Amino acid sequence: MTITYSDIKPWGRSFNEYVRMFDLTPADLRRKIVGCGDGPASFNAELTERGGNVTSVDPVYIFSADEIRQRIYETYNDIIDQTQKNQDKFIWQEIGSVEELGNIRMSAMEKFLNDFSEGLMQKRYIPGELPFLPFSDKEFDLALCSHLLFLYTDNLSLEFHLKSIEELCRVSNEVRIFPLLDLNTDRSSYVEPIIDFLRMRNRNVKEIKVAYEFQKGGNMMLRIC
Ligand SMILES: C[S@@+](CC[C@H](N)C(=O)[O-])C[C@H]1O[C@@H](n2cnc3c(N)ncnc32)[C@H](O)[C@@H]1O
Repeated sequence: MTITYSDIKPWGRSFNEYVRMFDLTPADLRRKIVGCGDGPASFNAELTERGGNVTSVDPVYIFSADEIRQRIYETYNDIIDQTQKNQDKFIWQEIGSVEELGNIRMSAMEKFLNDFSEGLMQKRYIPGELPFLPFSDKEFDLALCSHLLFLYTDNLSLEFHLKSIEELCRVSNEVRIFPLLDLNTDRSSYVEPIIDFLRMRNRNVKEIKVAYEFQKGGNMMLRIC
């Protein structure tokens, strides 16, 4: 794994955000789930607390809880400044202000940090990175990928995306990816070629509108079965 400490900018969402981003029903939450690129999100901690079966995979899990905590505090102000500068790209309704956003993200990341050491021992947090995952074929019922694929269209190639999505389909019966926007809140130019590629491989692909929109226009998820 090539990730270095200074590469990471930890920023994690909450269980409630995952539920709405991925349109997760109570039945979905009882499935065997893998979260790819979960980083310091609290989805794993909170779903485990509710009795769910979830594994998260992310390159940052090679670092200790203390290192991730330290990095959160080192990068927090930068991320908040960036968000202040780009306020017009977001909808400030449910989350009313940049300050409130910071509090929500910190609270989610604290839940993650408090759970991380135990979760590592229980193999709920696995260091690893796309496009190759350390899991066997169809090990999971449902794979979730939040704010990684499509979002970093400018940094991650179409080839990386295709390989990564095929890999997610290898390890899981169903894959859900959110959002379909890039960092400029434009629809990723990869969405159409990826849908075409997957349909050519006879995969069932659907864009689904969800009840979560924070990035303006970011309320669509891709579901691949
Ligand atoms: C913007 S964060 C999103 C975190 C979380 N999914 C959420 O929505 O709150 C992107 C995450 O993707 C992880 N990541 C970066 N490259 C990755 C890769 N090749 N495979 C898996 N995860 C990766 C990062 O370490 C980071 O935790």
